[in-house]
Amino acid sequence: MKITIIGAGYVGLVQAVGLADLGFNVICIEKDFDKLRELKFGRIPFYEPGLQNLLKKNLKNNRLNFTNEYSDNISKSDIIFICVGTPPKKNGESNLNFVDQVVNDISNKIKGYTIIVSKSTVPVGTSKRIEKVLKKNNSIKSFDVVSNPEFLREGAALKDFARPDKIIIGCRKMKAEKILKKIYKSLKRPFVVTNNETAEIIKYANNSFLATKITFINEIADLCENIGAEIETVAKAIGLDGRIGPKYLHPGPGYGGSCFPKDVKSLIYQGNKNLTDLKIVKAVDIANELRIKFLFQRIKKILKNKFNNVQIGLLGISFKPNTDDIRESPGIKLTKDLARTKAKIKIYDPQGMENAKKELAKSIEFSSDEYEVAKNSNLLVIVTEWNQFKNLDLLKVKKLMKKPVILDLRNIYSKKIIKLGFQYHSIGNN
Ligand code: UDX
Repeated sequence: MKITIIGAGYVGLVQAVGLADLGFNVICIEKDFDKLRELKFGRIPFYEPGLQNLLKKNLKNNRLNFTNEYSDNISKSDIIFICVGTPPKKNGESNLNFVDQVVNDISNKIKGYTIIVSKSTVPVGTSKRIEKVLKKNNSIKSFDVVSNPEFLREGAALKDFARPDKIIIGCRKMKAEKILKKIYKSLKRPFVVTNNETAEIIKYANNSFLATKITFINEIADLCENIGAEIETVAKAIGLDGRIGPKYLHPGPGYGGSCFPKDVKSLIYQGNKNLTDLKIVKAVDIANELRIKFLFQRIKKILKNKFNNVQIGLLGISFKPNTDDIRESPGIKLTKDLARTKAKIKIYDPQGMENAKKELAKSIEFSSDEYEVAKNSNLLVIVTEWNQFKNLDLLKVKKLMKKPVILDLRNIYSKKIIKLGFQYHSIGNN
């Protein structure tokens, strides 16, 4: 079976390396010349635990190859996975330009029966859109379009590739279903086989439901704060209800990243387009957008509205731990808001600094480690729950800070640190 992956971004690269490691021969097509050169040397353009080593292993055993060449590779492929970006437009609609371009590029090169799989998150109707373009080309004798959405979490992508909760196969013919099942068979995970449209909406429903869970617990946390209750115990208790489950109930600065914000907005757009008013999803989107403003007000209150001669240190800038991704990161948004005040802002993140430097104003100071951030700060805000922030030498931190005040947006510490002389604020605890 000859497998081709188009697009060596986050999804494409994990899919390519993952399938090569399962024993398949994989060609990955990437147009960006610089990226291509790096990948051929076994270097990945972002931080993802374990991926670089697995890439090197599969380059060495020649199961994985990178190229920018379409012609020959497409005509020899049995399966083509489309893994290009579908960035959001301002109105929430997904921009399908990259998908369209790929389909046009491959449509005059396909020879013999070929399966075209959309792995990227694409709105409902995209399979039909791809089928339409391919059907226009009379030289393509037979093909099937399959929707096989990914559910990879950044920072845990290899684990999610190898042990997905489910594998969605949206297709119209048994032949395509059989081949897709053969590809993923060795993972021994449950399949959900359905039509293309259902598969496409599953991805959006899945991510929007998780975003709803997070937003719900964030709101309950705010209420807990005002009534003197403890959110951790509330989350634990409701999570023990098998109908609710314990995951995605950690309160924080709001969801970020390249998926949840984009997918929630896209689902709202698709609802509007199809005469369905998705009231809950709309509310989730609004609540999450407002969360940073709310946290800014909290900081203002802690600092008693005084930003002059004040230094604020932020620990964590990536949207979550174990990634250097800062897209839609609450840390970036909060830093931008704080940078508009007179306060001096210092930040540190174990992996996200390079990306943050490109995004943030020159006035922001980038520190070399967590203690450098604490030095002379009037307030230390924990934004991302990196493991290395969980066991800080708190006495050292206290000594270094101008005033020992911590705002813990991920609840990695507890009120116990008050005994060490800290003023401690967290999410959802009074
Ligand atoms: C997500 C989905 O989980 C994955 O299945 C999909 O295919 C891509 O999008 P990812 O964006 O990598 O993955 O991160 P995830 O771990 O799901 O977290 C998303 C956001 O929610 C982060 O900002 C995270 O901090 C936040 N979050 C998550 C919470 O605030 N509380 C939680 O309990 C869980």
